[in-house]
Amino acid sequence: MTKKNDDVPAVVNWHNDSYPFVCVLMLSDTSNMIGGETLIKTPSGDIIAAEGPAKGKATVLQGRILTHLASIPIGYTERITSVTSYRAKDPLVNDGSVLKTVKPEVNYGSNFNVFYPEWIGYRMEIFSERALHIKNVFEKSLNKKETFDKEKAFKMLKDMEDYLSHTWKEMEVSDKEWECYKSKLNI
Ligand SMILES: [Fe+2]
Repeated sequence: MTKKNDDVPAVVNWHNDSYPFVCVLMLSDTSNMIGGETLIKTPSGDIIAAEGPAKGKATVLQGRILTHLASIPIGYTERITSVTSYRAKDPLVNDGSVLKTVKPEVNYGSNFNVFYPEWIGYRMEIFSERALHIKNVFEKSLNKKETFDKEKAFKMLKDMEDYLSHTWKEMEVSDKEWECYKSKLNI
């Protein structure tokens, strides 16, 4: 199915996920359900549907990059899905993760004392694997007696700096987010 009008009744409105990949597993019985698909907006503005959200079937999408929506099915009593997030196994692949909607101060489903140590843990794991990769790249060029590529070194080290600062900047809570947090707690 392809269409252009993005005014669609939704369980979860148009959004991008916080993590690179997401797996949406349908838990509800959809035999009498019409609609209820995950809709995806393409760069040209077309809307395509991940067809057939049957019970036990899953849709895997690049939720960080692709704007998507969970549509409200007709004739439904529930639409329950289990959503699991993933990042690329290869530490050198771009990791665009953000904490926009999932940081504990914004999302009460995230446990402050568990969420942040796990976030730092996985980020530092990738950071150390990337650091080792950089060490190996220049060790190899040294062994091969190649000319040292300073520009390449700057690029790699700056990328590391960006990755590190992104890790703590994503944990910051904006004034707007604090206001929202305080209003939820009535303080
Ligand atoms: Fe999503």
